[in-house]
Amino acid sequence: MRKKVTVIGAGNVGASCALRIADKELADVTLIDIIEGVPQGKALDMLEACPVEGSDVQVTGTNDYEDTANSDIVVMTAGFPRKPGMSRDDLLLKNASIVKSCIELAARYSPNAILIVVSNPLDAMCHVAYHTSGFSRNRVIGMAGVLDTARFRTFLAAAAGVSVEDVVALVLGGHGDTMVPLVRNTNVAGIPIQQLLSGEELEAIVQRTRDGGAEIVKHLKTGSAYYAPSSSVVEMVESILKDKRKVLPCAALLEGEYGRRGIFVGVPCKLGAHGLEQVYEVQLDDSEEAALNASADAVEELVAVLGKNGY
Ligand code: NAI
Ligand code: 2OP
Repeated sequence: MRKKVTVIGAGNVGASCALRIADKELADVTLIDIIEGVPQGKALDMLEACPVEGSDVQVTGTNDYEDTANSDIVVMTAGFPRKPGMSRDDLLLKNASIVKSCIELAARYSPNAILIVVSNPLDAMCHVAYHTSGFSRNRVIGMAGVLDTARFRTFLAAAAGVSVEDVVALVLGGHGDTMVPLVRNTNVAGIPIQQLLSGEELEAIVQRTRDGGAEIVKHLKTGSAYYAPSSSVVEMVESILKDKRKVLPCAALLEGEYGRRGIFVGVPCKLGAHGLEQVYEVQLDDSEEAALNASADAVEELVAVLGKNGY
């Protein structure tokens, strides 16, 4: 029997995730949204692409959570995207309410699913999804680090004039202005990046990575990125469904790792059939550790606001 993935939210990110999952023939996909007709229309359109793509999966659109029952993975993308001038944090309470209501229903119908949270502000929405679902930490994982690292790798590869595939890099921390691209651990096919790019060039790339989401919003004006975000989600989905055990930067609930407990922050995670199978602790120098702590503090501040508002 094929695996089943539900994607909540049939907007830009959700529909792109559903399409990539169907094109890669990873699983049957159920696309659900609050707007009537949109998930049905998009899902049918994707299904009709399957003969051309050579994919034998089912793609279904719905407004009813009953149709999402017994999903292996639920990808949570419903929520408002950022508009120009708006920070991810402005979205906090609006999206917390959406995440809570959607995850309550999704968890009821798919009690064994693994949740991949995408809605922003990402780390805080993972907190809402974790507490709402009551799932164990291995089954609630946030997508942001794969995207932030992909942006970092894109800019590094362009500056060094090498293939993006050869750039090995890692971005830790919360999905926000305080994210921590780890320059010291970055290499091009084993060659330390500092041998190929100057300190000034690296500094500019780190800043561009931190501003990566805002750069796209500035161009689009009416929404935020979705092609690279959906690729990033699907890399996580594939690692879980195929039990590949890829080590990817994801938002995970820390239980003492990196000296923190009870908050979701981006850290290197092994993703396999059981979801989050291991959190790796990278050895950080003093400045990296301070930056990661500052990023974790920023997430904690948002979680405190959530707490005051009943989440
Ligand atoms: P979008 O506006 O294109 O789509 C959002 C969809 O959610 C809409 O179709 C809307 O009808 C639906 N929706 C709203 N309330 C709902 C509910 N209660 N139940 C079901 N569906 C509901 O937005 P887009 O671009 O797809 O972004 C979605 C979210 O993902 C945003 O919060 C955005 O900030 C976030 N995001 C996060 C990234 C990350 O790295 N973690 C990357 C890109 C986007
Ligand atoms: C991004 O980084 C909006 O968080 C989203 O593109």
